[in-house]
Amino acid sequence: MKTNPIGIFDSGVGGLTVMKALVEALPNESYIYLADSKNAPYGEKSKSEIIALTKKNVEFLLSKNCKLIVIACNTATGISIDYLREIFPSIHFVGLEPAIKPACLKTKTGIIGVLATEGTFKGRHFIETSNKYKDYVKIISQAGYKLAQKVEDTTYTDNESYSLIKTYLTPMLKENIDYLVLGCTHYPFYIETINKITSGKINIIESGEAVARRTKDILMTNKIINTFDDGFYANFYTSGDISILKQLIITYLKIKGNKFNAERIM
Ligand code: DGL
Repeated sequence: MKTNPIGIFDSGVGGLTVMKALVEALPNESYIYLADSKNAPYGEKSKSEIIALTKKNVEFLLSKNCKLIVIACNTATGISIDYLREIFPSIHFVGLEPAIKPACLKTKTGIIGVLATEGTFKGRHFIETSNKYKDYVKIISQAGYKLAQKVEDTTYTDNESYSLIKTYLTPMLKENIDYLVLGCTHYPFYIETINKITSGKINIIESGEAVARRTKDILMTNKIINTFDDGFYANFYTSGDISILKQLIITYLKIKGNKFNAERIM
């Protein structure tokens, strides 16, 4: 059990931003990453579609004997984690949710921005947390239409991306936000562009490190952390373009060729 892999899934390659933090915090674990890129983006799909897709992803990871599953997708977490916990009661799940609490506790202007998908804004976590703080902090939410897809297509550094981010952030900047919460795991790919537009003056909060800490806690509490120093290995699966995934594994995650395997699945 201790040596079983940690499973991670996302609607596509966005969850690699979470995997990066996990690998840094837990370098002795082995990992199975599933990118459901064929069905990306999830953000604008109906609740029932998202639930059906996430159930299928979990079944796939369970068939690979994962000891814990990280839902590296805010949209999938917000819409389906309660249901997944109910139908798979014996598996440990770690979900992703927009880091509204730390932003609300730290803001000095009393105004924060949240960039996430439409699906995440409809999910339980966003609604509950923002309701809790809305009397003290003004929360400006904005759906990042097209942004996840542009990461999937690897066009996230082009001029269109710059204009989209500028359009989404301008109303927030006018309102004087000092914290921007990235509530979608695809969005850390835009950090450089965001810093360019805001001249680096806005604090950006993403959830990767907090998720890695939470995962480590659960593994330790349940005594399933891998204590054998037999090294890191990762298996990647995608329902989409394998060459894009491989390119990101090497350039973004910086994993060497002999430390991973990547396959396309239907
Ligand atoms: N990466 C996902 C998230 O964190 C969703 C992007 C999408 O598929 O719309 O919400």
